[in-house]
Amino acid sequence: MAVDKKLTAKLTFPDGKETTLPVVVGTEDEHAIDIKSLRNETGYITLDSGYMNTGSTTSSITYLDGEQGILRYRGYPIEELAEKSNFVETSYLLIYNKLPNQAEREYFSNLLTRHSLIHEDMHQFFAGYPPTSHPMAVLSAMVTSLSAYYPDSLDRNAPMDLHITRLLSKVRTIASFSYKKSIGQPLMYPRNSLKYCANFLHMMFAVPTEEFEVSPVLEKALNQLLILHADHEQNCSTSTVRMVGSSGANLYAAIAAGILALWGPLHGGANQAVIEMLEEIKLSGGDYKKFIDDVKNKRENRRLMGFGHRVYKNYDPRAKILKKMCDEVLAHLGVKDPLLDVAKGMEEIALKDDYFVSKKLYPNVDFYSGIIYRAMGIPTNMFTVMFALGRLPGWIAHWKEMVEERDEKGAPTMKIGRPRQVYTGEKTRKYVPLEQR
Ligand code: ACO
Repeated sequence: MAVDKKLTAKLTFPDGKETTLPVVVGTEDEHAIDIKSLRNETGYITLDSGYMNTGSTTSSITYLDGEQGILRYRGYPIEELAEKSNFVETSYLLIYNKLPNQAEREYFSNLLTRHSLIHEDMHQFFAGYPPTSHPMAVLSAMVTSLSAYYPDSLDRNAPMDLHITRLLSKVRTIASFSYKKSIGQPLMYPRNSLKYCANFLHMMFAVPTEEFEVSPVLEKALNQLLILHADHEQNCSTSTVRMVGSSGANLYAAIAAGILALWGPLHGGANQAVIEMLEEIKLSGGDYKKFIDDVKNKRENRRLMGFGHRVYKNYDPRAKILKKMCDEVLAHLGVKDPLLDVAKGMEEIALKDDYFVSKKLYPNVDFYSGIIYRAMGIPTNMFTVMFALGRLPGWIAHWKEMVEERDEKGAPTMKIGRPRQVYTGEKTRKYVPLEQR
C-alpha cells in the first residue's frame, strides 16, 4: 500500500467546514480515501450498510476486477492456475505468497499427508448427530472442536504452520466422514499413498469391501473446482474469518465462523440453491421461461440463483472455466443431466434479457459447479462443504496476513474489527414500573 502524498480528497460538511483526507493507491491503481482520522477530526463517521463501498483492509493475496472479469491469486491469473497448478500448490501459493519449489512442495504435501487423521475420540461426535444433519452444521462444529484437541492453538504467539496444515488436511477427512455417517456407511480412513484430492474422493466413495480406483479425470476436475474457489478477497465468509480472528480468537474458531458465514444461500449455499431451483423447474414441467418471468417480476422474491455478484459486473471468469469443465466431466462420465439443459437454456435467455443485462447479472461460480458435483456423485447438501474445502486456504491466508502484519517499526497492526452505527432508536426514557404499563 502507498499513501500518495500528492493525492488527497476534500470533504465539505453541512456547516461549511472542510477536511482533507489522504488517498491510498494499490498496486493495480485502485484508489481509496483513508478515513481513519475522520471521526476524531470532524465527529462524523461514514455509513455503508452491506459494505458496498468500504475497504476493510489492504491485502496482497487476491486481485479482482469485477468490471473486467479478472481474478488473480498472488498475481497469477486464475485461468493459468486452474490449468497448470493443483489445489495443494495453489494453497501454498495463497498462504505463503510464492509458488513452492520442489522441496517446499514435497514438505508441504508430506505434512498434509501425515496430519489427515482426526483424533479417534472425535468419531463419537459423528455418532451423536441425527442422520438428517446438514453437513455444514457438522463441519463447523468439528472444526471448532479441533481447537479442543490442539489447545496450543489458543496461544496467540504459538507457531501456526502446523495448525494450518492440520486444518487443511483434517477438514477433508471431517467432510467425508460426515457424508459417510449420513448414508450409514463405514468411515473410510485416509490413505497416505493418495494425493490430496484423490484421497478425498477415496474417503467419500470407497467402501471397505471392494477395491476403489480414483478416476484421474475426476481428480483433475476436483483440483480445478477447489482452485477456483480457493480465494475471493473480502467476501462475506473471509471478512467473517478476519472479524472473528481480529478479537484474538484462535485459528480454528475463526475458520469455523467462516464456514458458518459461507452456509447462507446468498453466498456459498448458492450452489445447493441452484440445483434446488433447477430441480423445481424440471419437476414443474421444465418451463424455465416462466421461472425467469417470475424472477423479473420479483414474484415471491424469486432470484435466479447462481446469477449476479456483488463485485463481478461482467462474466465471472470462474464460471467460464466451470461451464467448459461441466461439458467435459459429464461427457467423460457419460452422464446426460437434464438439469444442464435447463441451466444452459436459462443462461441463454438471461444473457439477452434486458432485466439481467441492465443490472449486469451474469452467471457466477455457483451456476455450473453444482451440476459438476452432482455428476461426480456428491450429494446436493454436500455442495457447500465442497466450497468450504476449496475456500479454506484463502481463509487461512487472510487470517495469517492479518495476524502477521507489522508496521514500519515492527509492531502488530491488527485491530479488533468494530464498526460503528448511526443510532435511530428512542431518546432517553424514564423506566415505567410494571403496574403503570
Ligand atoms: N436474480 C434476479 N435479480 C437479481 C439477482 C438474481 N440472482 N441478483 C441481483 N438481482 C437484482 C436485485 O433484485 C436488485 O434489483 P433492484 O435494483 O431492482 O432492487 C439488483 O439486482 C441488485 O441486487 P442486490 O441484491 O442489491 O445486489 P448485491 O450486490 O447486494 O447482491 C448477490 C449480490 C447476493 C450475489 C445477488 O446477486 C444474489 O442474490 N444472487 C443470487 C444468489 C447467488 O448466486 N449467490 C452466490 C454469489 S457468489 C458467491 O458468494 C460464491
